[in-house]
Amino acid sequence: MARGRTTKKLAQRIDLEYFRRPEPMRRLRFALSIAVPAAALLWILGLGVAGKQHIYQAGGLSRAHVVLSDHCGACHVSATTSFRKAPADQACLGCHDGPIHHANQLSTPSCVPCHSEHRGAIRLAATDDSSCAGCHVNLRIRGGSTTFAPSISSFVNDHPQFAILRAPRQDPGTIKLNHAAHLRPDLHGPKGAVQLDCGDCHRPPAARADRRFGDAQSRSMPAPSGADRALPRAGRELMAPPKYAETCAACHLLQFDKRFVEAVPHAKPEIVLAFVVKKFQEFIAAHPAELRVVRDPDRNLTGKAIVPAVRILAASQWIAEHAAEAEALLWKKTCKECHSLSFAAGATLPRIEPANITTRWFPNARFNHDAHRGFTCTSCHAGAPTSQETADVLLPGIATCRTCHARGENHAESRCFECHTYHDWSKRKEVRPSFILPSFRSALEPPAEPHAN
Ligand code: HEC
Ligand code: HEC
Ligand code: HEC
Ligand code: HEC
Ligand code: HEC
Ligand code: HEC
Ligand code: HEC
Ligand code: HEC
Ligand code: HEC
Ligand code: HEC
Repeated sequence: MARGRTTKKLAQRIDLEYFRRPEPMRRLRFALSIAVPAAALLWILGLGVAGKQHIYQAGGLSRAHVVLSDHCGACHVSATTSFRKAPADQACLGCHDGPIHHANQLSTPSCVPCHSEHRGAIRLAATDDSSCAGCHVNLRIRGGSTTFAPSISSFVNDHPQFAILRAPRQDPGTIKLNHAAHLRPDLHGPKGAVQLDCGDCHRPPAARADRRFGDAQSRSMPAPSGADRALPRAGRELMAPPKYAETCAACHLLQFDKRFVEAVPHAKPEIVLAFVVKKFQEFIAAHPAELRVVRDPDRNLTGKAIVPAVRILAASQWIAEHAAEAEALLWKKTCKECHSLSFAAGATLPRIEPANITTRWFPNARFNHDAHRGFTCTSCHAGAPTSQETADVLLPGIATCRTCHARGENHAESRCFECHTYHDWSKRKEVRPSFILPSFRSALEPPAEPHAN
């Protein structure tokens, strides 16, 4: 059977008048193609008239700057009509300073590559590692070569071990302390056996000072070093240096003579000696009979008993003898248990080495104990319970940090800014802000002159 479909028959099916006839769907489409852009234009114009500019931006502003969303000119000062140029540093410096990193850096990068905008509600100070790596993968300085590790691109891969743990360095402190001996479960305390805890000796300065082994008399004394130079004074970032008065006094009494229950003050040797002399003066004034000293009976070579000799001392002599005895005990035993003492030629009083307890071990990074308070002390200071010498360095190395500070969602932040600052904030200049939100301007304008009646 032949098919009846010829080209002609097919052509007759096409309605050549199609485009001339009105058709509802098509008209709607046409109307929309004009109305939608027109509405958009009106919307843009309307927002423009209303002073809203945020529609022109590629993405939302960072959290700190989101209040500027309708004030593009605050940053894009050069030409408020054209946003093609990234803002100049000058615009940023109008509101806050961004002091440089190091005076010896070869160049000063501008603010924007590090603090880039229009990426949504991000934390602007959370800069990418690449902004540091730009210099730190090949660190060069003006006039010389750096003493720091010259190539670092990420904490996870090529960051060096911390300086204090690189070379076999020592703790420079001079207070003798055997951690292992003091952390024994059956340490002899003032009221029987105790188990010391790290917190009995180590607390941040902001913590309440309710220590178990402090002592009221010592606490009331000024710091023995004269000026209390030790940092930090406040905060919860670093640990306060242990003080005798707060952490040792209750167990290590500074008694000097069996006649007195009182201990010497924990202070400079001159003060200690003056205290001792005064105590003996008061004592002998109250007990003059003690000036009669009976020498122990002894036997001579023939075995015959010698009549005990009786000496009557002058008060000053009695005081000098007893003070000398007390001094021998203090300098050679009591104080020496914890301190290094030395006698300069001809000096009668010892010199006590400065305690020199380090309070900041990472001068080139920041650390915060408070951010880690959920973890036990020994998870980072694993060496403390077995350390016998003050000279031991008990700080965690980079491998410990990397167990938590690593890449990926299940880890703590590992980008450089977490542990370092870029800006040297000590060089910060005060900025006198000049930016006024236009919406405040009317409120700030002087009130109009009142009408003359
Ligand atoms: C807090 C300062 C700040 C404010 C306010 C601000 N911008 Fe920006 N803008 C920037 C920075 C910084 C860049 C460069 C971003 C980059 O290079 O990563 C930029 C870039 C741009 C760009 C792209 C230019 C380019 O080179 O790609 C446009 C468009 C833009 N801004 C529009 C706006 C508009 C519109 C507003 C107001 C709603 C606005 N900006 C408000 C800081 C700002
Ligand atoms: C109109 C004033 C103004 C201008 C202009 C401005 N900022 Fe800010 N900026 C602020 C305010 C306000 C804050 C929030 C207060 C603070 O953290 O100090 C802030 C915060 C920041 C922060 C800290 C944000 C954080 O995550 O903690 C950075 C970084 C910053 N600005 C960088 C810049 C840079 C870069 C520019 C230039 C592109 C700039 N700012 C321009 C007012 C301004
Ligand atoms: C090489 C990268 C880099 C450059 C360039 C840079 N910053 Fe920063 N900025 C940082 C980092 C990292 C931080 C967070 C750590 C810190 O405070 O140093 C920061 C923090 C800030 C803060 C927030 C301080 C706070 O209160 O937390 C401000 C404001 C700031 N920068 C402004 C500026 C300005 C203005 C410029 C340009 C003059 C600039 N920055 C250039 C990396 C940079
Ligand atoms: C413009 C180049 C440059 C950039 C960008 C840069 N650094 Fe540095 N950095 C230096 C120089 C120069 C030194 C000093 C080296 C010296 O004195 O031997 C230095 C030293 C350091 C030090 C050791 C001394 C100190 O300041 O504590 C640290 C840590 C450091 N930078 C971290 C960073 C971090 C984090 C960033 C990114 C936010 C960064 N740097 C970005 C040039 C740069
Ligand atoms: C009886 C008090 C006492 C107790 C308890 C004690 N410490 Fe110490 N610790 C000191 C003294 C004093 C110093 C300073 C002298 C020194 O460097 O050894 C010190 C120093 C340190 C240092 C810094 C010095 C270095 O070389 O690293 C760390 C870290 C430390 N202790 C951790 C601990 C931890 C962790 C515990 C608990 C497991 C603990 N300590 C328990 C008294 C104590
Ligand atoms: C709870 C009581 C207690 C506290 C608190 C305490 N000690 Fe001791 N300390 C002892 C006892 C008990 C001994 C004797 C331990 C031994 O010989 O095994 C001792 C011994 C010592 C010795 C001699 C160590 C050795 O190796 O034989 C030194 C030095 C010392 N303590 C320093 C300190 C310092 C410094 C502090 C304060 C930071 C302190 N102690 C806090 C109880 C304490
Ligand atoms: C149980 C250990 C212990 C004994 C015993 C001890 N001290 Fe101390 N001493 C310390 C500690 C810990 C410090 C650190 C700072 C503080 O307590 O204020 C210190 C600091 C000092 C300082 C200041 C050092 C500086 O940094 O300039 C002087 C001075 C001092 N002691 C004198 C004495 C004298 C004198 C004696 C003996 C009568 C004595 N101490 C006995 C633990 C002891
Ligand atoms: C988890 C914390 C942490 C992170 C993240 C981190 N650092 Fe460090 N960084 C440290 C500590 C701690 C030190 C030791 C500081 C000291 O010895 O005073 C250090 C030391 C340094 C030093 C001095 C090196 C030397 O030779 O002693 C430089 C430079 C440095 N870091 C740069 C960086 C850069 C760049 C990044 C990002 C790629 C980064 N750090 C990331 C903790 C960190
Ligand atoms: C996440 C690891 C971590 C934990 C957990 C930790 N520390 Fe530290 N600790 C450090 C680091 C890192 C330093 C060096 C910080 C610095 O001085 O810059 C330090 C320093 C110290 C110092 C020397 C003084 C100082 O602050 O620099 C003492 C003492 C100390 N820690 C005691 C403790 C005690 C007690 C605990 C438990 C309550 C503890 N630490 C928990 C990491 C840790
Ligand atoms: C047991 C896990 C753990 C270990 C180990 C650890 N950290 Fe952290 N660290 C954290 C957590 C969790 C935070 C808080 C969350 C965050 O900022 O990502 C933090 C925060 C920090 C901060 C920011 C503190 C602040 O004030 O915002 C610094 C700096 C830091 N750690 C340094 C270190 C260094 C240096 C080490 C190694 C000595 C270390 N951490 C080891 C878990 C850890």
